[in-house]
Amino acid sequence: PRAASASKQACDPPSYRDDENADVDWENLGFSAVQTDFMYIMKCSKDENFVQGQLSRYRNIEFNPSAGVLNYGQGIFEGLKANRKEDGSLLLFRPDQNAIRMKIGAERMCMPSPSIDQFIEAVKQTALANKRWVPPPRKGSLYIRPLLIGSGPVLGIAPAPEYMFLTYASPVGNYFKQGNALLNLYVEEELIRASPGGAGGVKSISNYAPVVKALIRARSQGFSDVLYLDSVNKKYLEELSASNIFIIKGNVIATPPTSGTILPGITRKSIIDIAYDLGYQVEERAISVDELIDADEVFCTGTAVGVGSVGSVTYRGRRIQFKVGECSVCQELGSTLVGIQTGQIEDKKDWIIEI
Ligand code: COI
Repeated sequence: PRAASASKQACDPPSYRDDENADVDWENLGFSAVQTDFMYIMKCSKDENFVQGQLSRYRNIEFNPSAGVLNYGQGIFEGLKANRKEDGSLLLFRPDQNAIRMKIGAERMCMPSPSIDQFIEAVKQTALANKRWVPPPRKGSLYIRPLLIGSGPVLGIAPAPEYMFLTYASPVGNYFKQGNALLNLYVEEELIRASPGGAGGVKSISNYAPVVKALIRARSQGFSDVLYLDSVNKKYLEELSASNIFIIKGNVIATPPTSGTILPGITRKSIIDIAYDLGYQVEERAISVDELIDADEVFCTGTAVGVGSVGSVTYRGRRIQFKVGECSVCQELGSTLVGIQTGQIEDKKDWIIEI
């Protein structure tokens, strides 16, 4: 099997069978960390390039207490999914796009980054070595998490002297606990996610812990997620905690431009392309929170989230509701995307890598 050849480069030789399934309740997968069998590690020093990585058993890793990532948050990550086809092969969705985004993020955070080929190789090896953890067709995906961190010690503010690129994976189902039910969003006016000149436009680890407070607060009031506004005017839609936002009015699909404070989502970009192909007009422009009142539909997109239909948005105590039926535009876009990702719809754009 191909999985076996992937393992040949490991110093800690993996022994696994790709014809068995892991002991997982595939019917009730959520989005939480499940420890799988293997991870992929590659290291390099500052001012060097990554050369060769290897699979190793999934395990804890040790850091110097003054590691750059622990003290100053020098780290970025990616997320992508592998889906299992009926014939047993695995489908990766646009891993090159994650590799490119990691390169851009690494430059912002003053880190060396793996080449596009090294990144894709690490993702392939991680998926194949953990194949028994890939859910059966239609039950979920293997979520693959590439991580690039400053692993060497620093005390003054500076780039770390050593770096680690690590890729691990976990089987996942629905991101939201409520499953596919419509999302109820809360527009956050006090806390912001990112500001111009900051690192909101890259997948820095430092973008995520600060949103937890707003998220916990919103969840405790029964909301599914937080919708952030821009930090300057507190008026324009930015994104959710882990996904991009779209609004639909008639034949027009609009989403905020990714001009520095918004993460350039790969699902976002793919949905824009699909929408064009299906004949919709797509606008990337500033969207005022007041436009929600007139929107026909609102939805969010992300690798972990997929395409999530929004049932309501609450802004300044007013609950704005949206009608999302079986034939809604966002369902059409979402099912087209999932169809391509799972091999049900022909991939005419070379988005899929089959392994
Ligand atoms: C992803 O969609 O891959 C993400 O990175 C979201 C994650 C923060 C849960």
